[in-house]
Amino acid sequence: MTTLHTDTPPSLVFATNNAHKLSEIRAIFAGKLQILSLADIDCHDDIPETADTLEGNALIKARWVKEKYGYDCFADDTGLEVTALDGRPGVHTARYAYPDRHDPEANTQKLLSELKDKADRTAQFRTAIALILDGEEHVFEGVVRGQIATEKRGTEGFGYDPVFIPEDTGRTFAELGTEVKNKISHRARAVAHLVEFLQSK
Ligand code: IMP
Repeated sequence: MTTLHTDTPPSLVFATNNAHKLSEIRAIFAGKLQILSLADIDCHDDIPETADTLEGNALIKARWVKEKYGYDCFADDTGLEVTALDGRPGVHTARYAYPDRHDPEANTQKLLSELKDKADRTAQFRTAIALILDGEEHVFEGVVRGQIATEKRGTEGFGYDPVFIPEDTGRTFAELGTEVKNKISHRARAVAHLVEFLQSK
């Protein structure tokens, strides 16, 4: 962590420019830790995500920031792992339908079509968070298990939310809404482990 000034909290970079993720994390650390985005440190690089695991991609992003910009940092990567598809789309979740671009609607339709005749619709969302702090690397994980719906349901959220039914709820993330989702989601669970670790320091 970097102490910028004696009366300002120490700072830590979150290797993202996703406004939703930033505001979620900033609210958690308000007053205790200043969370800087990639834009805040003037990093506009297209960081290559070339690893074949979520943990590997999160580490690539965190190491990139540490090595090129000198900041302690954390980064995340999320995948949807579907049992009947042997864990796919996994590390390719964002670009499942098209390898060169992120098209959430096409991704969802491809998933529904691939599962059309499958009896087993179980899946899980998994988030890996890599943290580089004081010269050490740490990885935290969050998982939510559930089922893939047979059609889209609900209007809230983003990405695969209209087709993912977290276990014990009977409703998709898009039907449950952001407030409920943010308590039980893969990302919330991974972030809780990160927060627990940072608060113990
Ligand atoms: P990222 O690593 O957070 O950018 O997530 C990779 C991809 O997974 C995103 O582009 C979304 O398609 C999908 N994804 C991640 N988190 C969620 C979620 O909470 N709900 C639905 N889709 C998600």
